[in-house]
Amino acid sequence: MTVLVTGATGNVGRNVVDLLLAEGVPVRAASRTPSGLPAGVDVRTADLTDPGSFVDVFDGVDKVFLFPNPAGVQGVVAAAKTAGVQHIVLLSSIATAEPNTDNMIAQAHLAVESAVRNSGIAWTFVRPGFFATNTFRMAPVLKKDGGIRIPYAQAEFSPIHEHDIAAVAAVALLNEGHEAAAYPLTGPESITQAKMVELIGQAVGRQLWVEDVSGDEAEVESAKSFPPGTPPEIIKTMLGFTKAQQGRSARVEDTTERLLGRPARTYAEWAVDHKAAFA
Ligand SMILES: NC(=O)c1ccc[n+]([C@@H]2O[C@H](COP(=O)([O-])OP(=O)(O)OC[C@H]3O[C@@H](n4cnc5c(N)ncnc54)[C@H](OP(=O)(O)O)[C@@H]3O)[C@@H](O)[C@H]2O)c1
Repeated sequence: MTVLVTGATGNVGRNVVDLLLAEGVPVRAASRTPSGLPAGVDVRTADLTDPGSFVDVFDGVDKVFLFPNPAGVQGVVAAAKTAGVQHIVLLSSIATAEPNTDNMIAQAHLAVESAVRNSGIAWTFVRPGFFATNTFRMAPVLKKDGGIRIPYAQAEFSPIHEHDIAAVAAVALLNEGHEAAAYPLTGPESITQAKMVELIGQAVGRQLWVEDVSGDEAEVESAKSFPPGTPPEIIKTMLGFTKAQQGRSARVEDTTERLLGRPARTYAEWAVDHKAAFA
């Protein structure tokens, strides 16, 4: 059995590659500019917005870990079907199952889920919430200033470790019984953004300050924290989510523990795993 991992150099995809290799599964890995992938992986260059670039890439592939990219997804899943792919495990988002799905992020993921569901290929949707990796965005400021101004610092999230998302995807790829299942995934606890900074400080052995900002200032700080070129609507949506989570516990799911047979990794563990990025 050969598994194709798309988005293979990303936070989640790179972990999926390692987990499959550890199980002795032949892995093909694709992205637009793939680099840094381990020996033994069949590395391919392909763009999810250009389905034609996947025709050869799907050849001989049984299962696919699919990175969600709305532009081109119809053509990509059609090419997978033609090539005889048996199962797609899609990286999606918990936002697709929230009551309010009229925002840009949920809509994009819903469009991808719909294309995969209608492809005629067996599917599994992995639907994580807030990635712990989102907090990498704080690293440059924390390193430079020893603290950070955070929009709605008391907003709570249940950050999930990218390794756990990948581990659930690997379980769905390597075992029977996950077809037509949608798995909401979160970290094991609801914590404030201020607490995340405190835990980063503990991981790097440095006391970090946090200033809570709101209103117009929150908009300015939020815009500064995203990479240049991030669509303003994404920034606005994320700030809206954050504001709504002020003083409110985040949803915590036990799916990761049920599927992996071990507790989901905590944010404190994530901070230790990635302390080099913040040191
Ligand atoms: N952040 C969150 O809290 C959150 C929550 C739920 C769901 N999600 C979803 O999770 C995804 C992000 O996952 P991640 O953090 O693992 O991603 P990531 O680290 O940003 O990596 C993106 C990967 O996809 C590849 N890629 C991007 N565009 C591509 C294209 N057009 N064609 C082929 N490959 C492409 C990139 O490689 P190349 O650049 O080489 O192509 C890279 O391998 C997003 O779709 C997001 O909506 C995020």
